[in-house]
Order: sequence, then structure tokens, then C-alpha cells
Amino acid sequence: MSQFANFEFQNWYPLFKHVSPKARVLVAPEQFREYLLSDGLLLHTEESDSETEWNTPETEIQHINKKRATDSAITNSSASDNDNIKNVKNIKNNINDNDSESDSDSVEASSFLKKPPAEFHTLIEQAIAELDGAVMPKLNWSAPRDAAWMLPGNSLKCINANDIYSALKSSDYIVHDLQLQPENVVLVLRQWFDLHPATEFRCFVNNGELIAISQRDMNYYDFLESRSSQIIDACKVLASTIVSKFPENMFVFDIHLTKKDKAFLIDINPWNEKTDSILFTWDELNLENTSTTESAVPELRLVSKEDRTRTFSSKPHSTSQVPADFVDMEKGDLQDLIEQMKAQRAKEA
Ligand SMILES: Nc1ncnc2c1ncn2[C@@H]1O[C@H](COP(=O)(O)OP(=O)(O)O)[C@@H](O)[C@H]1O
Ligand SMILES: [Mg+2]
Repeated sequence: MSQFANFEFQNWYPLFKHVSPKARVLVAPEQFREYLLSDGLLLHTEESDSETEWNTPETEIQHINKKRATDSAITNSSASDNDNIKNVKNIKNNINDNDSESDSDSVEASSFLKKPPAEFHTLIEQAIAELDGAVMPKLNWSAPRDAAWMLPGNSLKCINANDIYSALKSSDYIVHDLQLQPENVVLVLRQWFDLHPATEFRCFVNNGELIAISQRDMNYYDFLESRSSQIIDACKVLASTIVSKFPENMFVFDIHLTKKDKAFLIDINPWNEKTDSILFTWDELNLENTSTTESAVPELRLVSKEDRTRTFSSKPHSTSQVPADFVDMEKGDLQDLIEQMKAQRAKEA
């Protein structure tokens, strides 16, 4: 499809299976793409297999209304506080209204719903079972990292196909992927493992040479500095494996460092300003394009104690994430929430 095809998961994974977490790649039927792009969130139910396409069980309509109400409040982020209060009230009303299911909104909702394709659903459930019951989903390019809030534990750990649908359908990153990728969509399921953010690093390969390594998580971890040489060595070993087989010589790869100081490949990204350069700048990275020094040591950058202060100023995915408070609106005091948000904004400004 594009010049970036080498960076699609299903294209690089077969080359590096032996150094990457176990995964299954499922070629998605067109109906799955349509399902992901359709409005509302209709999950799979056993009964829905035998139903006509638009006959929606009550609980699903409730789920949809809750999501739609939440969405409409969130997209209105530039509105005044008064408007926000109104929106928040609407959410509450909308959710309460779901008890009387005959409202016209629900009828209207059912007309744009699509359900997940049944055969593909079965393949997903089988793959999850083969991967020991828990997976992290992604498409050709992206994981729905902005939608982890949809799932229990606020992580992308999916234990059934419905978890996967909830995450994918709530993610702006996934919509973006699907818009770029009109065909040959794949659903990647990677076996889940608990991965501490301090063990993740991003490695920059310029002209076939590993020149830079950045810590990925923006928190300070005091133990990382003393492990610098192990981190660099592990990244170098993995870099040489990748360079020997990967068709590009400029790329950025992400690793997880195991307790035994082995680097596992998590992802390969294009050498492109759209790829986050984290603790480096793209200007710095692009300058280092002379491969004169034979055994140059890559530069490792870690978040320092002094950097800590800027750590919390921008949370990842904060632009697309819905605050948990909105989802759990019934319990809270609405005015309180607005006040908290105002105070938070004032602090950030
Ligand atoms: N198998 C897995 N189990 C648990 N977490 C994972 C797994 N694979 C990836 N992750 C986490 O998800 C993040 C994003 O994964 P990645 O494949 O790079 O997606 P994206 O390209 O959208 O960032 C990784 O940095 C890692 O923290
Ligand atoms: Mg990635």
C-alpha cells in the first residue's frame, strides 16, 4: 500500500517472531472494518447470532446511549462551563432515561448499529484461548492506547472479544488507522504480559546503526541509571538482529527489557517526525547520519531527577481520553466535578 508497508505488524512480525512476544494475526473481513467504523457500541451476545441485524437487546442500547451521551459531552470541550454543566446533566438524564426503553432515541440508535461479524468473532475467541486467555489488541499500525479506560484495570488487557471491540471502537487511533488503511486490515492479538513501564525503551537506527536509546515512560526511576550498560548492550544485540533482516536501514524500534537483560521487540516504527522522539529531538537524531565511527556507543537518555517536575504536565492520550468521572457520573456530585476540572485546568495553565 504505502512506502511504510514494512512497518505494518503483519509484515515485520514473521521476521522477528523469535524475539517478540507471541502473537496471532487475523485478516479482518470488510464487515469488521465497517463494524469498527459504525456508530455506537454493539457487543456480541450469544442471542445476537440468531437475530436479525438490527434487533438490538435492551442492555446494548443502554450501553450505546451511555457512550453517545458521554461522547457528546466530551467533544464539546471548548464550550463554556455552563454548557458543560448542561452536558453533564444530559448524560445523567440520558442514562436514567434508559430505564424506559421506548424513547425514540433508542429506535433511532438501532438503525445505525452494526454487530461484530459472527465468524470472525469465533476466530478471535479461539486466538485468545490459544494465547492463554489474555491479549493486547492492535491493528496494522496502532494499538487503542487512548481507550484503555474502557476496560477494567484501565489497561489493554483483553480477556474476550467484547473487550477488544470496546477498546477498538472507542479509540481515535484506531479510527485514524482505518481511514489510512481502507483494505487489508488485520487484527493483531498479542499474548498479554505484565510489562513495567520502566522496562520500555525506544531505539533509533540511522543508516543501519543504533545511535540513540530513550526511556519511554516519563517517570523517574532511580534504578535505571545503574543499569545503563545492560540496557545499551541488550538494545545493541536486538538492533543487530533487526538490521540483518529488516528491509529498511532507518527505523525506530521499541523494546521491553526482561529481568535477564534480554530485549524483546515490541514494535517497529518509521524514521519519521510522526514517530515520537521522546527524550531526543528529530534534529539531533537526523544530524547523526555519519557512520564513521565503527563501534560507536549509542547514547542512552533516561528521565533524570530534575526532569521529574515536568512529568505530570502532559499525560499520554490526554486529548482523546474520557475522564473516568464522566463514565461513573451517577455517583459523583456534578458541580464538584466541574470545580475540580476548573482547578485542574488553572493548575496546568
Ligand atoms: N503483549 C503485550 N502485553 C502487554 N502490554 C503490551 C503488549 N504489547 C505491547 N504492550 C504495551 O502497549 C504499548 C503499545 O504497543 P505497540 O504495539 O507499540 O502499539 P502502538 O504502536 O500503537 O504504540 C507498548 O509500548 C506496551 O507498553
Ligand atoms: Mg508503537
